[in-house]
Amino acid sequence: MKILRTIASAQKLTTQLRIKNKVIGFVPTMGYLHNGHLSLIREARKKADIVFVSIYVNPLQFAPNEDLSRYPRDFIRDEMLCRKGGVDYIFYPSNEMMYPEGYSTYAIVEKLTDGLEGKIRPGHFKGVTTIVLKLLNIVQPHFSVFGQKDAQQAAVISKMVRDLNVNTKIKVLQTVREADGLAMSSRNVYLTKEQREDAPFLYRALQFAKRKLELENYNKDIAFLHGQMSKLIKSRKTATKIDYISFNDYETLREISSLKNAKNSKILVSLAVRFGKVRLIDNIVIKR
Ligand code: PAJ
Repeated sequence: MKILRTIASAQKLTTQLRIKNKVIGFVPTMGYLHNGHLSLIREARKKADIVFVSIYVNPLQFAPNEDLSRYPRDFIRDEMLCRKGGVDYIFYPSNEMMYPEGYSTYAIVEKLTDGLEGKIRPGHFKGVTTIVLKLLNIVQPHFSVFGQKDAQQAAVISKMVRDLNVNTKIKVLQTVREADGLAMSSRNVYLTKEQREDAPFLYRALQFAKRKLELENYNKDIAFLHGQMSKLIKSRKTATKIDYISFNDYETLREISSLKNAKNSKILVSLAVRFGKVRLIDNIVIKR
């Protein structure tokens, strides 16, 4: 396994790999790898000749009041996990490399970024799409693997790739969870013991919605479900703020306010909840 720190070295290499008809699989990450990331790497390993992972905490996707400086980092550990996972190359650039002085070009996906995370974190997706487009131009992968854990991110990146004709395929894999249901996240390390005990209630609330919505004769409406989920989460002392609980069309991410127009569709139920300074997101997809 090799670590590439410059754009020129990575681009030169991937250009050569493409000439040799090697299939390049790519997993972009911000590091502090966990089993969620490793499941994406395993998928890439299965389908690609050459597996690239990028490790880069992208400052552009963090607002000034967010946790950029506190974001967990441990490159030595990440390097070991990548080696074990059969990764061929880690792209590990510096901020100066990615955003040199005078940098002024951005990728923006409209509409899909209006709600959910985009609403609570203005500018976040501009940062995500810009860095992902840059990484795709550097790594030139045949396919890239993302997690359903960040459902809106996966939808926004897929849309960007379609709209801008980026020559790569996007795969989206299931959320990997701890045994008690908590979605794996690099940010989980910051939960105190009490917060960690309460955090699985997010998934319990999502499962509650799934059970109800999948009932053939379910006749209560979204507002009722929303209320029940909210009550369940608020029953946990350390869940300090619910940023949102939302029901959206899986394809368009348009908000669904009534089940009457949601027959034979896929519904994305997603939520973002703060446990003190730690903000967790999760979601579930429901077929009606
Ligand atoms: P990061 O949070 O490190 O996540 C990297 C990838 O791992 C994303 O595609 C994310 O959805 C996926 N992932 C995270 N937790 C997961 C879980 N529990 N199960 C399955 N997949 C999971 O997302 C980012 O980084 C950044 O925004 C990035 C795309 C790298 C751009 O900077």
